[in-house]
Amino acid sequence: MRYRVGILTLSDKAFRGEREDLSGPEAAKLAAAADYDVVYQNIMSDDFEPMKKELARICDEDICDLLLTTGGTGFSKRDVTPEATMGIAQRNAPGIAEAMRYHSMQITPRAMLSRGVSVIRHETLVVNLPGSVKAVRENLEYILPVLSHGLDILKGREKECGTILEERSEGKDE
Ligand code: MTE
Repeated sequence: MRYRVGILTLSDKAFRGEREDLSGPEAAKLAAAADYDVVYQNIMSDDFEPMKKELARICDEDICDLLLTTGGTGFSKRDVTPEATMGIAQRNAPGIAEAMRYHSMQITPRAMLSRGVSVIRHETLVVNLPGSVKAVRENLEYILPVLSHGLDILKGREKECGTILEERSEGKDE
């Protein structure tokens, strides 16, 4: 099943044109290579209220199944992507953010400085990525192969986790 992905870059400098946004295009490239249809790409500043409004709009209008944000997950005072994302969340999906930090920590201990979250609103999964191209690549390569199964369940296309059930019954026979 092909899913629709939206990519929202959150960066004051990229929004003002003071820095070229490379992280959004990198996310789009990797998502397209993983068979997602890129249906939305945008750059916004780190302003909290417009960011929150746009995140909610994308989910409420069912624009995409997976919404990836890049940037604004660090400790700078203007880094408020996780707060805006939590502000529109209906359900938490913490395992994805945990997995990204777990994987990234094996590459750089600075991964602990990303405060990114992963949540669900209606039928859209929202995942915060750090803002560097390197971090986008390292995180997406790890999570993208698994997300389609989560989206299958979120969209009601798969009711049971076949492999997990098989693994459990195999375990019982031992
Ligand atoms: N995760 C991975 N995989 N690779 C990285 O290079 N950089 C870290 C972290 N996560 C990094 C990473 C750094 S240095 C910071 S400050 C935080 O992400 C926050 O980045 P952001 O403010 O651009 O969102």
